[in-house]
Amino acid sequence: MGGLRRLEYRGYDSSGVAVQSAGRVHIRKKAGKVGNLAASIDAKPLPNGEAAIGHTRWATHGAPTDANAHPHLADHGRLAVIHNGIIENAGELRQALSGAGHVFTSETDTEVAAALLAQAYRSAVDDRGPAAADDGDDLLVGAMRRACRQLNGSFTLLAVHAGHPGLVVAARRNSPLVVGIGDGENFLGSDVAAFGEFTKRAVELGQDQVVAVTADTVAATDFDGVPVQVTEVAVDWDPAAASKGGHASFMVKEMLEQPEAVRRTIQDRIGIDGSVRLDGLGIEESTFARINKVVVVACGTASYGGQIAKYAIERWCRIPVEVDLAHEFRYRTPLLDARTLVVAISQSGETMDTLMAVRYAREQGAVVLSICNTQGSTIARESNGVLHTLAGPEIAVASTKAFLAQVTANLLLALYLAQFRGSALREETFAVAKELRRIPDLIQRTLDRAGRVNALAADLREATSVLFIGRHVGFPVALEGALKLKELAYIHAEGFAAGELKHGAIALIDQGQPVIVIVPSLRHSSLLHAKVMSTIQEVKARGGWVVAVADDGDGVVAEWADEVIAVPESSPLLAPLLTTVPLQLFAAGLAAEKGLDVDQPRNLAKSVTVE
Ligand code: F6R
Repeated sequence: MGGLRRLEYRGYDSSGVAVQSAGRVHIRKKAGKVGNLAASIDAKPLPNGEAAIGHTRWATHGAPTDANAHPHLADHGRLAVIHNGIIENAGELRQALSGAGHVFTSETDTEVAAALLAQAYRSAVDDRGPAAADDGDDLLVGAMRRACRQLNGSFTLLAVHAGHPGLVVAARRNSPLVVGIGDGENFLGSDVAAFGEFTKRAVELGQDQVVAVTADTVAATDFDGVPVQVTEVAVDWDPAAASKGGHASFMVKEMLEQPEAVRRTIQDRIGIDGSVRLDGLGIEESTFARINKVVVVACGTASYGGQIAKYAIERWCRIPVEVDLAHEFRYRTPLLDARTLVVAISQSGETMDTLMAVRYAREQGAVVLSICNTQGSTIARESNGVLHTLAGPEIAVASTKAFLAQVTANLLLALYLAQFRGSALREETFAVAKELRRIPDLIQRTLDRAGRVNALAADLREATSVLFIGRHVGFPVALEGALKLKELAYIHAEGFAAGELKHGAIALIDQGQPVIVIVPSLRHSSLLHAKVMSTIQEVKARGGWVVAVADDGDGVVAEWADEVIAVPESSPLLAPLLTTVPLQLFAAGLAAEKGLDVDQPRNLAKSVTVE
């Protein structure tokens, strides 16, 4: 149950466990959070067993109900299966299995996998004769391999069977699975957080592999039964990361950790003179020297971080940069070759859309550098090289500290490419790199001003729609501010490029419509500042209520905006590291005003491991 609670942030629509005990499999499953399952088990405990599996779900096929929760049973209640991912040929398989007499009790693709496994198991037992049913774990392991060969899509599957005491059989394709090695006990989990408190030793299962785990043995093969060597990795899991440390939520804790997240991401990578070194990237300098195009792929918040990379790389390196949502990129036959650098940004390193984009890019011969927060994650492993953000584990479902760390890594990459390939703006890049070293202190100063933002959140408690506008790097910040408000406070919000407002969206402005404007630095970019001031006036003229996020030194904005949230001044490309912070605080503050769960907003999951 502890393991399930620790992985709950990955999906929390429903949860369940199966305990294999004395020749039977007992299951319990409940819609809602793991707490519901725990209450049910407390009220009516399950027996102790030889092996158990548990699952916390983010619904794909079928609503989050008790019936659709995992585990799913087959083989007359003797086999229990849990699953992450999506089985793409579930429809056809369901039809065939129904035709063969299987009666389904849920709408899930998982139950199809369970039925298929049961069918493969039964035919293996029949081949061996009746006496073989309850001996020889190979029967279940072999059946798992056979079932997996018939499945399309992505899956991590775990199964226990009443006739195989103390055995868990698991398989993976595309979705993650790690095995924790204990002393007389072994574990399986989607990530090491599930068992980090019990062991520091783990093995990561490779693509298309099946593993048979007992208390004392771990044996892996491919889907054809050929044994595979597994390599052990040390579990880098800090129990402090799994606790709120006295804060009201993980989100509050993680927002407060942002200065440290950025400091660690920068540490040792920028010299006192402003030179940037990115050691251990895994990609040769000569490869970077050949690059003539950069494509950034990511999803959600990570993609907004990616947009900031475009402004930085194009300005300092003069290399064209495209930014694409990973799921759009993958299916639009983009133009890639060996001179294209694809930068894949992902906190979890497991986002299926981004992983598929990485695989596609590599197939096309592009060079893939990933920017990942999770060490050893699938995207990190499948890229040519990786630049780690060092934000530490992010538990709250909505990203905060990982976003600032991603923006920092993007800037480091841009500065590195600029310095190493020769930039016409050499002095600027060295000066900005030096300034970046001081940014963590400025983020702290921005956080110290949370009181004012919280007061604003209280004022806007009844708002039903909030617009965010920004220009230049303020545009992706506006998109991020809107996303945070939608996902945390369930308020309709949209981010626009400030210049785009007059091309249509201005029709949304009427009396009292709140508009949050990210204002460029007056000192550094007076031209852009003037343009944004014009947009503010256009909004005001139509009755909009303007909150400006602007530099400390901005004496002009106060004349036009209804409210000003001041942040410390910085050079333009570093500004997102500061202007994003009040928008995060605002969204979290408004969610708290409405009594919402900021750590686990409805309908979401931390790692979106389905396409
Ligand atoms: C929003 C948020 C998501 C993620 C997106 C990609 O707060 O966290 O939009 O940014 O799902 O996730 P990663 O970075 O793990 O690939």
